[in-house]
Amino acid sequence: MWTFEDNVLIVTTEPSILTTALETRIAQEIAAADGWLPFDRFMALALYEPGLGYYANNTAKFGLMASSGSDFVTAPEMSPVFGQLLAAQVAEALVRTGTRQVWEFGAGTGALALQVLDELAALGVRPDRYTIVDVSGTLRARQQLRLARYGGLVHWADALPARLEGVVIGNEVLDAMPVQLLQRLGGAWHERGVVRRPEGGFGWQDRLTPLRPPMDIEGEHDYLTEIHAQGEAFIRTLGEHMVRGAAFFIDYGFGESEYYHPQRHMGTLVCHRLHKVDDDPLTDVGLKDITAHVNFTGTAVAAQDAGFEVLGYTNQAHFLINCGLGPKLDALEQGPRAMAAKLMMEHEMGELFKVIGLVKGAEPWDALGFVRGDRTHRL
Ligand SMILES: C[S@@+](CC[C@H](N)C(=O)[O-])C[C@H]1O[C@@H](n2cnc3c(N)ncnc32)[C@H](O)[C@@H]1O
Repeated sequence: MWTFEDNVLIVTTEPSILTTALETRIAQEIAAADGWLPFDRFMALALYEPGLGYYANNTAKFGLMASSGSDFVTAPEMSPVFGQLLAAQVAEALVRTGTRQVWEFGAGTGALALQVLDELAALGVRPDRYTIVDVSGTLRARQQLRLARYGGLVHWADALPARLEGVVIGNEVLDAMPVQLLQRLGGAWHERGVVRRPEGGFGWQDRLTPLRPPMDIEGEHDYLTEIHAQGEAFIRTLGEHMVRGAAFFIDYGFGESEYYHPQRHMGTLVCHRLHKVDDDPLTDVGLKDITAHVNFTGTAVAAQDAGFEVLGYTNQAHFLINCGLGPKLDALEQGPRAMAAKLMMEHEMGELFKVIGLVKGAEPWDALGFVRGDRTHRL
């Protein structure tokens, strides 16, 4: 099976062969773990197992329509205005922190990197280096093709340097990090894991656990939720390596009181395939994205533990408007304008998506993106 995406030929393994191979690999790991795998480990294998996991195989993933074989669309894939406006914030942060490098985590097809680099050039701010860190080898190949004209400036790294100085960005990367599932059943907290069913395929099994959500959930009703040990460890590691600089993460999610609201009793874990959403990560493994919303309070606390200060926290609409969305929209033709407007519309990406800004080793400042509508006090 093959498709063309961004002029790149994507050769895809037959879906059933891919799923069978990945299921076999996961089943081996379940067997080695005495029959029960915590969900975060299952999610790590389903998304990142080399060659087979969703982000490690060659399926199309990113795109506007299911007809291209893609599963979902992200902001930089929707409109270049997203990266252009983020670049305005990056440019300011480079100046304010006195640093000269940009680091991007989870760069997808390279669309955001291209938009940021083009806009930085237009603003006359040329970083010394733009480094991409992505756990997906196949996506790295797509990024290299897309960013070929920035050869020499763009580099790829597998790990953080001992001393990081620069401005970090990451769009929809925290939501792709494996989460643990907690389930309150009959008033007792369980960790949800994955088992092999005798009839084939995978099933759920809950085990009593000392783990708890970061805040009490009012009531005694059954309640399923996620905790984000890996995402928060990622932020702490970033802070430990960062000597001087700033970081901006954009993703869907909420602060803690909204995340662990008693009424949100089904959690936020969902899968995306061919632009449809479902809540069953145990089927079509390797063929669909698995994702959970971000607990931005947990992100902020992990960041502060690691020496960051929070520069600001707001929704995507406010952030982009603060960075200059209005004049950008005015300058666009109707079609591209409609796409760019989705970035800020409340029922599209404007409210569910949030932006958190962090700074370390430099004086915090009234950062451009948070000048109006800052909600740090709500975290
Ligand atoms: C939903 S995609 C977003 C891609 C891109 N930022 C965009 O907006 O189109 C998630 C990306 O995060 C990457 N990723 C997940 N965990 C990561 C980690 N720990 N470090 C770096 N990249 C990671 C995935 O490989 C993938 O490229």
